[in-house]
Amino acid sequence: VTPSRLAQAVDSQHIFGQVSQELRAVEQSIRHITLPEVSLLAEALMSAVSTPGKLMRPSLVLLSGGATGTIQAAHIEAGAVAELIHLATLLHDDVLDDADLRRGQPTVKAAFGNQIAILSGDYLLAQASLKLSQLNNCRLVSIFSIVLGALCAGEVQQAVTAYNIEASWENYYKKSNGKTAALFAACCEAAAVINQLAEHEVQQHRLYGEKLGLAFQVIDDLLDYTAKQSDFGKPVLDDLKNGLLNAPALLALEYSPNRQGLQELIQRLWKAEGASEDLEALILDQFQSSHAFEKTKQLAENLIQEACDCLSPLPHSPYKTGLQDLAQYVLERSY
Ligand code: IPE
Ligand code: IPE
Ligand code: MG
Ligand code: MG
Repeated sequence: VTPSRLAQAVDSQHIFGQVSQELRAVEQSIRHITLPEVSLLAEALMSAVSTPGKLMRPSLVLLSGGATGTIQAAHIEAGAVAELIHLATLLHDDVLDDADLRRGQPTVKAAFGNQIAILSGDYLLAQASLKLSQLNNCRLVSIFSIVLGALCAGEVQQAVTAYNIEASWENYYKKSNGKTAALFAACCEAAAVINQLAEHEVQQHRLYGEKLGLAFQVIDDLLDYTAKQSDFGKPVLDDLKNGLLNAPALLALEYSPNRQGLQELIQRLWKAEGASEDLEALILDQFQSSHAFEKTKQLAENLIQEACDCLSPLPHSPYKTGLQDLAQYVLERSY
């Protein structure tokens, strides 16, 4: 049993210690999904679930469960549902992005090919929906069904603006809401629904998750430039090369003293024969001189502040503190 990187962080830094026990139960629940008889698919699935990630989404369900009432068995299962959905989107995403590295390991796509990666993702979605049905709560079914639609729409929203040098912040927020924030928001909403909070309280808590999810995406964009690949566990400098104007790129363009010059450099990178280490270095220099990385951090900090403001109606508890710590962790994470 490989403890997750977050579980290691729990032990080493005492963060999210409030829910470490329950997180282990989520990991168990995920490892105990029914595997198919066909061994090729079972092998691919085993490889996907045996290298856990940071478990951000289940942590969010569990801490939210504690902060809005009591942590129940349904919170553990809802956390597993959220993580299974997340994992499925990663399997699919690595096909879309043609990515070979995930969580520091070869992706299912790299090891088993596109078809098995897509079908493994589908299989995990089927297991997630089975678990969801066992919760006997139609509201939870709609919450997570809506997320699945949002995830697809977000990916397509991103794809249609790839390699568009005029891509806007509006597009960025739309795709980030769909791809990332929707699932974070759903985790919070589900946790509050399980505790039968009043609808306005559910929505307020959902908003914390949405803002947190956006901040998480903004920092993920930043790490794409600043993290070491060995820490990040996935390819770096990948977004821009794949035609995506992520948050630092949008900020660099917005604040560049020579916007047109920077646009031209990026478009050169996007030409098949254009990419070179010199050109990358030139672009990164311009990002530096536009203070794009500091501004990206600032943007994430503002979103985190807005997220934490949404927590103010909740009574003081170690779980509420945990949600504040989680928000801080999103800003400070290095992978
Ligand atoms: C990666 O999510 C995908 C994004 C939303 C940016 P995580 O960074 O939570 O991935 P794992 O689960 O820890 O690997
Ligand atoms: C991850 O998307 C999958 C979803 C959020 C649906 P990205 O392509 O943006 O993230 P990484 O960098 O591969 O984790
Ligand atoms: Mg990707
Ligand atoms: Mg992608």
